[in-house]
Amino acid sequence: MRRTREFYPLPTPDDHPTGRAGKKRRGEFPRGNRLLARGDVMTDSVVDELERRIEALQTRIREQEVWRAVTGKTTPASLVQGIMREIYLEISWYQPDVIEATIAVIGQMPRSLAPRRVRAMLLHQVEEWDHGEMALRDYVGLGGSEVFARRARPSPSAWAVAAYWRLLAHKRDPFAYLGALYLFEGLTPRVTGEVKAHLQAKQMGAESLEYVEFHSTEDIKHQNLVRQLIDSLAEEPHAREAMLHGIDCFEHVYPIPCWNAAYLRALAGGSEPGLQALAS
Ligand SMILES: [Fe+2]
Ligand SMILES: [Fe+2]
Repeated sequence: MRRTREFYPLPTPDDHPTGRAGKKRRGEFPRGNRLLARGDVMTDSVVDELERRIEALQTRIREQEVWRAVTGKTTPASLVQGIMREIYLEISWYQPDVIEATIAVIGQMPRSLAPRRVRAMLLHQVEEWDHGEMALRDYVGLGGSEVFARRARPSPSAWAVAAYWRLLAHKRDPFAYLGALYLFEGLTPRVTGEVKAHLQAKQMGAESLEYVEFHSTEDIKHQNLVRQLIDSLAEEPHAREAMLHGIDCFEHVYPIPCWNAAYLRALAGGSEPGLQALAS
C-alpha cells in the first residue's frame, strides 16, 4: 500500500503523537523516516526529497506484476512485446496533452523569474515535442496500427495522465509542474536503462526500441536540467510545497496505473479489436 505523506501542511506534534519506537516525545514529530524537533529547520533540498521518492517508487515498481513479467526470463516474448506495445500506446495518447498543458503552465510562471529560466523550461518542452510520435513509431514497429492509435479514444489511464497536466494549467499551479516533471525525468532514465537488455532478449530490435534507447541516455541530461531548475526556484514563495504536491498527485496516476492498465490489456489480447491474443 502507498505510504501516506505529510507535507500539506507540515505536521504538528499533535497531528502525529508517536515518536521514536512509537512513544510520544514532547516537541518531536515524524517527517519521512526521521524526526524533527520543534524549531528544526528543514535543510533537505527539494531535489533530495524528490530523489528519495523516485527511489522508493522504483522499489514499488519492481514489486509490480507488470515489471516482473517484462523482466522475467521465462515470460513469453509475445507477452513482453504486447505489454510494451500497450505502454507505447499509452505514451502516444497522453503525450501531446502533456506538452500543450506544460507550455501553458510555464507561461503562468511569475514575471519575477529570470527569462533564461523560462527559456530553459520551454526549450526542454521543445526537446520533448514529438516523443509521442517516437512512442507511436515503436508501437507500429511492434505490429500496431497507426490509424487505430490516432483515431481511438485514449484509455482511462492515459486520460488521467493527460488530465493531471491539464489541471495544473487550469489551477494555475506552475511550480507543481517541476515536481511532476521530476517524476518523468528522474524515473525514465532509470527504468529504460534497467529494462533495455530484458527487451532485447525478447526479440525487440531497433524498430521497437527507439523510445527506450533514446530515453535511457537523453533523459539523464533532462534530469540534470530539471534538478538545476528546481534548485534555482525552490525558494520562490510556496514553490517547495507545490513541487512536492505536484509529484504526489502525478504519482497517483503515473506510472504504475498506466503500466498496470497496459499489462491487463496485453493479457486480454491488446487494445486493437480483432488482433490475436498476444498472451497465448
Ligand atoms: Fe521524452
Ligand atoms: Fe525527457
